[in-house]
Amino acid sequence: MNAIQTRASVRQYTDEPITDAEVEAILRAAMAAPSAGNQQPWEFWVTRDAAKRAELAATSPYATPCGRAPLVLTFVQRRDLRWPSMVQQDMGACVENALLQIADMGLGAVWMGIYPEADRMEAVRAALGLPESVEPFALVAVGHPAVSVEAKGPSRYDETRVHRM
Ligand SMILES: Cc1cc2nc3c(=O)[nH]c(=O)nc-3n(C[C@H](O)[C@H](O)[C@H](O)COP(=O)(O)O)c2cc1C
Repeated sequence: MNAIQTRASVRQYTDEPITDAEVEAILRAAMAAPSAGNQQPWEFWVTRDAAKRAELAATSPYATPCGRAPLVLTFVQRRDLRWPSMVQQDMGACVENALLQIADMGLGAVWMGIYPEADRMEAVRAALGLPESVEPFALVAVGHPAVSVEAKGPSRYDETRVHRM
């Protein structure tokens, strides 16, 4: 799959907006992810508003792309789950599915970790007014790349990480 090899974190964007159809395609991919017992723990907050994005950008020193991208997706996990010990794995698969869809559409994005850093989680909860029933997991800033994604470095394939028996 080409998107796996071409995906790279993109932190600089043009002003071109992301359409509603593009958002739906991204979220369809996200919600197609596998999850433990098919519990589908995810919900999504879709933020275009510049002031709100600036608030998200201020939630950690590493979240500044939120202020530059036309769109920020906040991935949140529900609390009341059948398999709570598996939820981070579910959410990681969900975010990666979204990133691959974004790359496949020629858009750019970066994953910004929130969970389990308590200060970041509280700041994102406050910025978005999240209900107590969910916990923020990650931010994903999305836009049209202002830099070439082709600039990604060499393959990370490392034969020494592979153990055969
Ligand atoms: C769990 C996780 C948390 C991350 N958090 C941040 C972040 O807060 N800010 C940021 O700019 N990049 C963040 N990244 C992106 C990584 O820096 C990036 O994926 C890594 O350097 C590899 O580069 P690549 O995505 O271009 O392959 C995060 C990635 C993951 C998987």
